[in-house]
This record gives sequence, structure tokens and C-alpha cells, in this order.
Amino acid sequence: MSALDYEIRQTAAEAEDTPRAADLENMRPLPRISVHAFCESEHLQQVMDRCANDRRMSKVSLRITSGSTAAAANMFASTPTPNLIILEIRANAHNLLAELAPLAAVCDPSTKVVIVGYHNDIGLYRELIRNGISEYMVQPVAMTDVMAAMAAIFVDPDAEPLGRSVAFIGAKGGVGASTIAHNCAFGISNLFSTETILADLDLPYGTANIDFDQDPAQGIAEAVYAPERLDEVFLDRLLTKCSQHLSLLAAPSMLDRAYDFDGQAFQPVLDVLQRSAPVSVLDVPHLWTEWTRSVLSAVDEVVICAAPDLANLRNAKNMLDALRKLRPNDKAPHLILNQVGMPKRPEIGPSEFCEPLEIDPIAIIPFDISLFGNAANSGRMISETDPKSPVAETFSQISHIVTGRVALRKVKKGGLLGLLKRK
Ligand SMILES: Nc1ncnc2c1ncn2[C@@H]1O[C@H](COP(=O)(O)OP(=O)(O)OP(=O)(O)O)[C@@H](O)[C@H]1O
Ligand SMILES: [Mg+2]
Repeated sequence: MSALDYEIRQTAAEAEDTPRAADLENMRPLPRISVHAFCESEHLQQVMDRCANDRRMSKVSLRITSGSTAAAANMFASTPTPNLIILEIRANAHNLLAELAPLAAVCDPSTKVVIVGYHNDIGLYRELIRNGISEYMVQPVAMTDVMAAMAAIFVDPDAEPLGRSVAFIGAKGGVGASTIAHNCAFGISNLFSTETILADLDLPYGTANIDFDQDPAQGIAEAVYAPERLDEVFLDRLLTKCSQHLSLLAAPSMLDRAYDFDGQAFQPVLDVLQRSAPVSVLDVPHLWTEWTRSVLSAVDEVVICAAPDLANLRNAKNMLDALRKLRPNDKAPHLILNQVGMPKRPEIGPSEFCEPLEIDPIAIIPFDISLFGNAANSGRMISETDPKSPVAETFSQISHIVTGRVALRKVKKGGLLGLLKRK
């Protein structure tokens, strides 16, 4: 243990008694975020270990590495950045931003950064906050300080909403909207190691349970019919784990009742999803009702899936026009052309299809009966059954686009530190 570590530990023991210890009692659990801490001192490593053992961290995927900012930059040049990076930096005001630059160049804009430093300097603090750093804490930090910093970013009522929601809907029945939604939810969770919830909003007929080879007793029906009970804890009980980072809010897929919903029926579900995980993917059935319109109005991104025929073209045009009115301040929905090139089927070519829509498709997926049929029948995703297929690559690209993720190693224009500006 270095002399510095010893000194930190002495003062930290006193710091544990700050009023924040009482705040911890009232703190809500952190949502399903990924956090990676890079510790230079033994003290911070111990603080992070204590955080890891706190019950409010049970859903957090936390990694603690003994290493510097350079080690972080090195690591994230080839792997996606987590929701939060905690960095211990000894550099002074003069060198700190320069030390951060290589990391900024590889950091996804949605990733938050908290710095644990050694210089009690208000000018430095302001400079860092201006550059998009979420918090700068001065050593010795207590476990409660780190918990409070994470809560301020991800739990506090006035914190930025955590989750990003992406809704997939077909321009016609059977065009593959659900298949695309499920493959993208899987892709997002897998490619970015980000916790993702797939919600199947097709209560009578939903196929997410079949596609992931699951048969849960509870799911979205319990959530939508009990809005007064619905919170993060209740939601947890309704989720089914499909893979390391993907959970499913499954449809009952039973016809024992009629499924009529009020216009706002799914709002509480969307709210709790947004508080619970960084990404929610919604599989919306091909309907145009008050409730589907309100779901499509509320989400961050809408993806319309269409097959290349006239009815799809007319419906896609109407949907795009209606959604532009419902979401006047958002960018237009994305379009995916699916089942393109079905043998013997007369089709409208992609450019003729897209021209009247005044939109470029983000993906064109070929009709491939054996690839999709095999995946569907074995309850697996395309990237599992045939990872090298061009369709698997297309799903990866869609996953990047709908989450606003930049391809790895691509440095944005505007300078390295520009990337630190997240506001
Ligand atoms: N590109 C493709 N090539 C071949 N088959 C496909 C393709 N995309 C989807 N399918 C198949 O088409 C069928 C319908 O797909 P899916 O259930 O995803 O459509 P949907 O638009 O969600 O339908 P619904 O209107 O019932 O919700 C499934 O059997 C699926 O495996
Ligand atoms: Mg469907």
C-alpha cells in the first residue's frame, strides 16, 4: 500500500460518516446499466468493491479494473463503451483534458463519465462539466459519494431519462416486423453488451416467446392490466431472460380474452421500461388504433418494415405522413424493405418503392426462406444460426443505426474533445 493510499484511507474513514450515508437508505436501486471503473489507487478499488456488494447495485453490470485512462482508451478502441465509465485520474487541471482526449475519441456519445481526481479546483470542475463529464469528485471519496454520483445520473427524478425506445411496426401483416424487431433486440444486447428489454405488444398472437424458445407464465399482460402495481421491482418479476443482456416482456399469445386497450394503456409500461434499461425494443402489431398511435408517438425511434408490393407502399406512405404529423419535432421514421426478391413474385423495385416515400431505406433484406425458416423453427436468431450471413451483418447495421451508435473506431468530425460534449 502506498503512502498516498494510506493517507486516503485515513480521511476516507471519516468521510463515510457524511450525511450521504443517510441518503443511501432512501436511494432507489440502480437500473440495468453497465459500469466500468478504472482505478489507480487501492482505495478507489476498495470503494468500488463496496459499491459492488450493495443491494442497490444488483442489476448493475459492474467491472472494476486496476488501470489508467490510457488503459481505458486502449480497451474501448475495440469494445463498446458501457453506460458509465468511472476514471481515477491524478493529472492536474493543465493535463487532465489532454489525458482524456484518446478516450473521448473512442467513447460512445451516450456513455457518461465520472472522474475521481486529486485536485480540489473549482475551475477544473467547471471545465470538466462544460466538456460533458457528469461529475468530478475529489479523493478521498467514500462509497456513498460514488453511489450518490451514480444515482444522480441514473435514478434521480430530474436525471435524464435512461432508456431509449425503438418501435418496429409492419406496413402490412406478415412482412417480418416481429422477426426484424427480435433480431435487432438480440443484436443490440449482444453487440453493445447493453441491457435490452424486448416488449411484445402483440398480446394475442405475439411470437417473441417462440422466437426465443421461451414459455413464460407472466409478461406484458400483467404489466398492462395492473398499472397501479407497475414499478421496476414488479417489472423484474415479469421479465424472462433470453440471453446475457436481453430480457423479454412476453405476450401471453392466448385467446382466452379480448384485448382492447385505452389509448394511453401502454404509457405506464413505456415509462417503467425507460427507467429500467438503456434500450427497449417494442414489437408493435400491424394495427392503427389509439393505443398503437400513442405508443408510436411516445418512442424515440420508429422503424416501419415493408415488403415490396403496392399495398405496402400505400400503407407505408400513409404511415410516414401520419407519423410525421404525430412527431413533428422528430426525424422521420426509418424504413426497412424486407422479403425482397421472393421467387416468381412481381415486386416493386427498391428505388421505385422509396421514391414516392422520399426516404432511403436503412436496410434491404432479401427473401431467404431457409435462413429465416431455420432460425424461426429452432427458436434462435439469425446471428446465432448463421453469423457469417450478409443478413446477420445487416441486422448489426440496423442495431447501430436505431440506437445512434457509431461504428467502432470511427472518429467523429469536430475534434476529439468535441466528443466529450454530450449536451
Ligand atoms: N426476409 C425474410 N425471408 C423469408 N422469410 C421471412 C423474412 N422475414 C420474415 N420472414 C418470415 O415471415 C413470417 C412472418 O414474419 P413476422 O411474424 O416477423 O411478421 P410480422 O410483420 O410481425 O407479422 P404480424 O403481422 O403477424 O405481426 C415468419 O415466418 C418469418 O420467419
Ligand atoms: Mg408481428
